Amino acid sequence: MSQHLLLPLAILAISPIPGAFQDSALSPTKEEPEDLDCGRPEPSARIMGGSDSQPGTWPWQVSLHQGGGHICGGSLIAPSWVLSAAHCFVTNGTLEPAAEWSVVLGVHSYDGPLDGAHVRSVAAILVPDNYSGVESGADVALLRLASPARLGPTVRPVCLPRASHRFAHGTACWATGWGDVQEADPLPLPWVLQEVELRVLGEAACQCLYSRPGPFNLTFQLLPGMLCAGYPEGRKDTCQGDSGGPLVCKEGGRWFQAGITSFGFGCGRRNRPGVFTAVAPYEAWIREQVLGSEPGPAFPTQSPELQSGLPEPTDENCTIALPECGKAPRPGAWPWEAQVMVPGSRPCYGALVSESWVLAPASCFPGRISSDLPPRDLDHWRVMLPSRPRAERVARLVPHENASWDDASNLALLQLRAPVNLSVAPRPVCLPHPEHYFLPGSRCRLARWGHTEPVPGAGSLLEAELLGAWWCHCLYGRQGESVPPPGEPPLALCPAYQEEEVAGRCWNYSHWSLLCREEGTWFLAGIRDLPSDCLRPRAFYPLQTHGPWISHVTRGAYLEDQLSWDWGPEGEETETQTCPPHTEHGACGLRPEPALTGGLWPWLAEVHVAGERVCTGILVAPGWVLAATHCILRLGSTTVPYIEVYLGRAGASPLPQSHQVSRLVISIRLPRHLGLRPPLALLELSSRVEPSPSALPICLHPGGTPLGASCWVLGWKDPQDRVPVAAAVSILTPRLCHCLYQGILPPGTLCVLYAEGQEDRCEVTSAPPLLCQTEEGSWVLVGMAIRGSRDLFAAIGPEETWISQTVGEAHFLLPSGFPHWLPEGGDLCPPDMARASGSPRAALFLLLLTLLIQG
Ligand code: ARG
Repeated sequence: MSQHLLLPLAILAISPIPGAFQDSALSPTKEEPEDLDCGRPEPSARIMGGSDSQPGTWPWQVSLHQGGGHICGGSLIAPSWVLSAAHCFVTNGTLEPAAEWSVVLGVHSYDGPLDGAHVRSVAAILVPDNYSGVESGADVALLRLASPARLGPTVRPVCLPRASHRFAHGTACWATGWGDVQEADPLPLPWVLQEVELRVLGEAACQCLYSRPGPFNLTFQLLPGMLCAGYPEGRKDTCQGDSGGPLVCKEGGRWFQAGITSFGFGCGRRNRPGVFTAVAPYEAWIREQVLGSEPGPAFPTQSPELQSGLPEPTDENCTIALPECGKAPRPGAWPWEAQVMVPGSRPCYGALVSESWVLAPASCFPGRISSDLPPRDLDHWRVMLPSRPRAERVARLVPHENASWDDASNLALLQLRAPVNLSVAPRPVCLPHPEHYFLPGSRCRLARWGHTEPVPGAGSLLEAELLGAWWCHCLYGRQGESVPPPGEPPLALCPAYQEEEVAGRCWNYSHWSLLCREEGTWFLAGIRDLPSDCLRPRAFYPLQTHGPWISHVTRGAYLEDQLSWDWGPEGEETETQTCPPHTEHGACGLRPEPALTGGLWPWLAEVHVAGERVCTGILVAPGWVLAATHCILRLGSTTVPYIEVYLGRAGASPLPQSHQVSRLVISIRLPRHLGLRPPLALLELSSRVEPSPSALPICLHPGGTPLGASCWVLGWKDPQDRVPVAAAVSILTPRLCHCLYQGILPPGTLCVLYAEGQEDRCEVTSAPPLLCQTEEGSWVLVGMAIRGSRDLFAAIGPEETWISQTVGEAHFLLPSGFPHWLPEGGDLCPPDMARASGSPRAALFLLLLTLLIQG
């Protein structure tokens, strides 16, 4: 478990208490009672959601140090014995040497040790043989001190329960420690020992909570010897650094240690109570370890009335706490929408994130982002919240420290003077934890954020669907970079939404926040457009990276676990993915997951020639489409036809109309070939097509036969409805191809062999392209069909120079595979084999056979 809190010994040592820091032996006096008195503090008095304790309230609490810092808690159970958790001392299955550890007794805070504070070195650490890790139980350890502790008002042992002792469901107990006050948020100076009241949860109630899948489909099976304490609604809990510390319950004027802080899922999360090692089942083990040591720990008997009055475990009901944030009566009626009114400027939209805090872009408050000066006019600021009769006043503005230079951190928190009562409205929005993974396909909405401009056709703008993380990450030019896997914060979130073009330009003036829904609960997932010009899909900065900052400042924002964990049939993606090569306008050869947007081939274009035929075209750059010359220009015709190109049609594509684009072709370019008619034509479009899920350029194959790639002929089943179909093929080696079609092939021709039953999938008159998907996942164009053939393709590779010179943004992959062209000479083909038997498949089979036999 992590070790966030440091309570260096050196700091304690600078305010010495006479006699405090020596390992001094305690000489038992005759007055010392036979049986150790336990569990009674001298009459006098985070842990998450807890509060400062009073000195001397928890005199058995000790701090366990290693390397000069606080690592874990523990409890004094006898002058020479401390009880703690095994996981504090076991790393990778090995018990750490006792000599590295020391026990600090009688401390309360950094402000100075109490009277009687002292340190003891550790003579031995004992851990049960069957301990293997926190989640398998037996997370208990005993530390034998090198010399007995000096008992006094601030140093006293706690009572231990016998094996038969029962702590009833619902019993209020207390946990103590110097651990984090929230996830990843260490206890601030002066490190006052924190205490928190936790309720013991029965086994059934706790198991019921932990059986409910959490983020990443996580559930947990409680084991015998574990005990839960906390609340279904979370918020109060132990946390990192509290481990090994005690959970104590008061019975008959004595404090019994019911549990040892062991682990939890996060801290204070809803339906994830803290898990403790139950102490009672370890009575025998403890007695065995301390045998012969005088005085040993005390195990007072539980009063019989307490034991008999226990409810049956079946009485516990399973109450799951539902999120209190993120509920909206209907999309668009956001109960967290806050309007911050600053005199002299337009209203700034933000979101209520807790009873007292509003999150808004820092850029709404220029001049205050970098200065620490308290704004004098905060008095005149107002915040309007839904269903509140009056405007709220503002007490404090806390800009994010990077707000002035980092667009992704353009955030500020405003504290209201008085907390508002949360109800149906106002109600805070839920915030994601850093490991939240918004599933591709999530239903999202855009909401007003900052100084939003009025939107043309606003109604249609607000709905959005989240696109895949891989595609979103790679689209913004991150060649070769690996994509953050689920559980790691993404760099961007991409929602697809309809956006109208304003006066021929894409509309890009307003800022938005991105709300995404999980099980009917809305999360604030992202903020503001990235400055992306017209590149689509739009990318939003994810808010999840800011969760720790927001909870640190607000101490109680509604960070909520992921509620949706349906990973689909493939389960979660665990392989690391790398972005394919890109052009300056996004990656080439990427394809949005078909599940999201239907059978999409975003580079496939319909090329309508002279209103009379449709050819296949492939988008090779934002302003260029490649097609087969023979389909575009008919032999003998002398005029350049009128050509229109459509993208995003993709037959039955479910994409909204606004994703379909059309362009006129303003020029046709052909390479200069002497004699033969060049097979490939480049069509220049009247204006660029901005990348979107339905219009993305493909990568180009430089030459050679792609190795390890899967290849397809992509076309239409019939030229009328033009629903794209792909037929799986293999590209034959140049030798096989050459032999099969001896002498009749123009240079640069590729031959393919269709997979069984795939031959007739696409029609040939539209001149379908030959594509492959490389092992890295990008799609590359390898060739375009030769007139009238389904098996022969004109390779792209030989035209690399011409294409690159004509289309600056065309992206050729690095060469791979083996060359197309055969070395000269040698009678490599067996005579009379090629084209011998009519069908290429049969001929090929014969050919292969002969070549094999020849060796
Ligand atoms: N294992 C943690 C530690 O080493 C204690 C975590 C307790 N977590 C919780 N949610 N109750 O300090």
